[in-house]
Amino acid sequence: MTGAASDAVARAAAVVRERLGNRRPTVAIVLGSGLGGLADRIADPIRIGYGDIPGFHVPTVEGHRGELVVGTLGGKTVIGQSGRFHMYEGHSADEAALPVRVFRALGVETLVVTNAAGGIRRTFSAGTIMLISDHINLTGRSPLIGPVRPGETRFPDMTVAYDADLRTAARATAERLGIPLAEGVYVGLLGPTYETPSEVRMLERLGGDAVGMSTVAEVIAARAGGMRCLGFSTITNPGAGISPMPLSHAEVMEIAGRMGDRVGRLIEGVVAPL
Ligand code: HPA
Repeated sequence: MTGAASDAVARAAAVVRERLGNRRPTVAIVLGSGLGGLADRIADPIRIGYGDIPGFHVPTVEGHRGELVVGTLGGKTVIGQSGRFHMYEGHSADEAALPVRVFRALGVETLVVTNAAGGIRRTFSAGTIMLISDHINLTGRSPLIGPVRPGETRFPDMTVAYDADLRTAARATAERLGIPLAEGVYVGLLGPTYETPSEVRMLERLGGDAVGMSTVAEVIAARAGGMRCLGFSTITNPGAGISPMPLSHAEVMEIAGRMGDRVGRLIEGVVAPL
């Protein structure tokens, strides 16, 4: 274990723990682009700005707030991460995964990831919500490179990276709430360009259903630490070339923001009985 990397987790966790008082979050929710509004569902919140947490960088991307929000959702104490560290911002995979490792150090056992993504599957349209069944890491990076961190395994099994029971619960919640829910494979790329039409066709042949620029490093670190993962992609646009429309971050944020309430209700329904 590199002293530096484990120290970064311990230092950040110590500051956050101090601010938690007697709150003990068991679920962490990573809020994707435009989905920060989801944090507003968290009741009795305390907010911890990234500026106060050692090693946490203030986000450079519009739509990411830069704070942790601790409170209750569905009767559970949760910690929401509003603002993630993307590798395209210049962060290493290790930095992208730092918050997840801090959550585990705080005792969190379940990680819920959300993101905005382009639709590869032809039947997906803007506003489709996709439960992530699996992912393909095409970033070429891993947060596990280097010495094994305390509590993590060298060669984590990824056969069921997205927990089967949580997915069953998500499908049941969607059914109960009348929220249409697709399910498919998320492909994580480095970005920050959107894909070319040829790349989208390639990803389709590789078995991808949605494509984005986040999530995979976080889930890899979570699995290495034995956390259970659940993920939702909001499809904000058909992938490049599927529709003739050019892609824009403004459109991504607008659609993601509009679907945030539904994604929030799904997450609340899943975490309540945990
Ligand atoms: N590609 C990659 N990331 C994205 C997209 C996309 O089309 N839409 C939202 N995030």
